Amino acid sequence: MSARDRLRIAIQKSGRLSDASLDLLARCGLTFRRSRDKLFCFGETLAVDLLLVRDDDVPNMIAEGVCDLGIVGRNVLDEQFLAAGCAGQPAGFRELRALGFGRCRLALAVPQEFQYVEPAQLGGKRIATTYPNLLAKWLERAGVDAGIVSLSGSVEIAPRLGTADFICDLVSSGATLAANQLKEAAVVLESEAVLAAGATLPGDERGELIDMLLRRIDGVIQVRASKLVMWHSPRSALEEITRLLPNGPRPTVTSIEGLENEVAVQAICNEAITWQHLEDMKRAGARQMLVLPVEQMLA
Ligand code: PRP
Ligand code: ZN
Repeated sequence: MSARDRLRIAIQKSGRLSDASLDLLARCGLTFRRSRDKLFCFGETLAVDLLLVRDDDVPNMIAEGVCDLGIVGRNVLDEQFLAAGCAGQPAGFRELRALGFGRCRLALAVPQEFQYVEPAQLGGKRIATTYPNLLAKWLERAGVDAGIVSLSGSVEIAPRLGTADFICDLVSSGATLAANQLKEAAVVLESEAVLAAGATLPGDERGELIDMLLRRIDGVIQVRASKLVMWHSPRSALEEITRLLPNGPRPTVTSIEGLENEVAVQAICNEAITWQHLEDMKRAGARQMLVLPVEQMLA
């Protein structure tokens, strides 16, 4: 294989998504050897290498063909997608999969004492953000004419500095807003980490690697939420008990030696099983209930 027959994935070098991105790839069976500069990781188990970059650089690296895939926040991807459109260019990248971690929201935030009720109150005001395109689209949809102050960082101090009235920034725990006497007023975009790829997937070996990786990622995502639920119950109670489980799974039913009307049951559930679920099942006749984590899954 020549160097470029190997698949290349760009991930965030250091930040909110770094650890979880590496963890996801590890769960997909990928292991890496880090180069001395720690910016390139050579794939040992598969022909898949990593590039550790600034998250904002991920979309362009894909568009330019430097990388085939990237893990990046939807906030970054969508912002740059809109920016490309405004510049009259096709973006050259797209979202392939939502990955279920790094959840946060791009939100409009106002000073704590401000009584926010509706977007119309933003008319004629200045809003500081590092996401001017996403904000512009949201304002346009809301039919509001406001000034957008484009900053490259430290957006949360803009109202105190007097460079803007409000801000539009990422909120995860809300600690940054609270520390700056701001509060969330409206959600502009729900974000999470996504797998991004070029507008067209490579047709060579790399395409096959991408297919395989997608299958494994789907498996990993599914497994995260999945539980194997096992119990004993009278055969007559089986239907009612199964209906109590999230998504009404199809159970595997086994007879129990010497107990005519009793069955042992197991079912895969794709959602969290709570104590309440177990209590309800018990009331419906289930006994000896077990909830087990699922290690791996390949559909
Ligand atoms: C975001 C955002 C805030 C902070 C919010 O920055 O700009 O500073 O996180 O998180 P909180 O609600 O938990 O306080 P991030 O770390 O994502 O870095 P970046 O936007 O510069 O990439
Ligand atoms: Zn960033």
